[in-house]
Amino acid sequence: MNNKVIFFDTTLRDGEQSPGASLNIVEKMEMARQLAALGVDVMEAGFPISSPGDFEAVKLIAKTIKGPIIAGLCRASEKDITACWNAVKYARKPRIHIFLATSDIHIEKKLQKTRAEVFAMAVHAVKFAKKLCDDVEFSAEDATRTDVDYLCSIVEAVIAAGATTVNIPDTVGYTVPQEYGALIGTIRTRVKGIEKAVISVHCHNDLGLGVANSLAAVAAGARQVECTINGIGERAGNASLEEVVMALKTRRNFFKLDYGINTREIYKTSRLFSSLTGIPVQPNKAIVGANAFAHEAGIHQDGVLKERRTYEIMRPEDVGVPASKLVLGKHSGRHALVSRLKDLGYRVKPADVVSLFDRFKVLADKKKVIYDDDIVALAEQGIKQPPATYCLEYLNTSSGTGVIPTATVRLMVKKVIVQEAACGDGPVDAAYKAIDKITGIKVTLADYNLRAISGGKDAQGEVNVRVERNGVTFTGRSTSTDIIDASAKAYIQALNKIAAGAR
Ligand code: KIV
Ligand code: ZN
Repeated sequence: MNNKVIFFDTTLRDGEQSPGASLNIVEKMEMARQLAALGVDVMEAGFPISSPGDFEAVKLIAKTIKGPIIAGLCRASEKDITACWNAVKYARKPRIHIFLATSDIHIEKKLQKTRAEVFAMAVHAVKFAKKLCDDVEFSAEDATRTDVDYLCSIVEAVIAAGATTVNIPDTVGYTVPQEYGALIGTIRTRVKGIEKAVISVHCHNDLGLGVANSLAAVAAGARQVECTINGIGERAGNASLEEVVMALKTRRNFFKLDYGINTREIYKTSRLFSSLTGIPVQPNKAIVGANAFAHEAGIHQDGVLKERRTYEIMRPEDVGVPASKLVLGKHSGRHALVSRLKDLGYRVKPADVVSLFDRFKVLADKKKVIYDDDIVALAEQGIKQPPATYCLEYLNTSSGTGVIPTATVRLMVKKVIVQEAACGDGPVDAAYKAIDKITGIKVTLADYNLRAISGGKDAQGEVNVRVERNGVTFTGRSTSTDIIDASAKAYIQALNKIAAGAR
């Protein structure tokens, strides 16, 4: 059996189904480029029929991203499959990924069909897709709650119809490692023709077992793992890519399996996704959390200083965690900045160097010491956003004990300066109310998150906001040494996305 585990990343599809994780097309492209740099084998770029925006994003990714297989998701209908193909066909290596539920509860209650009808639909869908694309994946949705005999018969039939990957999803995060490993074993022994297809697993994390279940399946012979960055995804999320790959790396003596992931790109990929969506990574998250490599207890610190392996099973540099060094200051030159960014894994296009360096100088004037995290934030701020309808020109707030917080805001709106003032519960609230008066866009602030980047009293604050409008979520983020300024700019960025009709 092949010893390579195929990493199928579904951050841009299942991950994007997570509340607040929607990305606009520019952000999706940025993420897709980074996933390619990470070395994912398959990138599920979206669900093309679900919206025109998703269709366009999948198409653009298929046209632009070289390296991974580009997959699109579709239901088992000719219309869905055709839309999927029309989006992924531009890729050098396209894949059509069809899903259809196979558990009785889904068949009877959701699809309102019989097992026989679902069986026929699955076979017809795969045959139809196969005429368009060589690479067809079939997912038996809710496989872990499906009757095993029926599951085996449907898997056998779709392989005979041309499926090259068969996915056995734990859609509701219900299974446990031993049971799931045994199910994969059963499929391997009972399904005729199974050697013609790759067995894939897709585990949700409702019981916190997504990674454990994926690893049990791999140990039992599955060779594709569907996963996401930071474990993002529907409900409690999916198995986290960084945890699965680092388990394979750290416990190579146990799994004895290969993979194509460049683990040194993990931290950067995690940071990028978190910054783009505004969804923070919990500090104790394995591999990428802020505390993942921090030792607090004196005994541990003592042990690590004497011999790192006493308490560290992985090296931070293997996942690309930048050593927090004091690197640059106001006298540093352009070359030093670009070379430090290169060390941190960021490639700066020559055309972007001037604006990046200008922003660096502005920051260096405000901040005595500039840490790696500050530089990373500068690079990420440079990610191009859709054209801005609203630009912050001026912001003045006053607040204090016994003072009613007020804000005066001036925005440039289509080349015209518009000014408003408002009072609020605090300076940020006052600024947001003044901005609302100018834009007239009615939104609900669903989440506001402020965190300090790097250390020191003059640390920069990164603000992530999530706003909702008519049930749709938009995110914005900004970084500044002044947290009110960052708060206003993050909010304006989200409003600009609404104005641009982007998500
Ligand atoms: O969880 C699930 O079953 C899915 C399928 C579409 C693969 O996301
Ligand atoms: Zn899923």
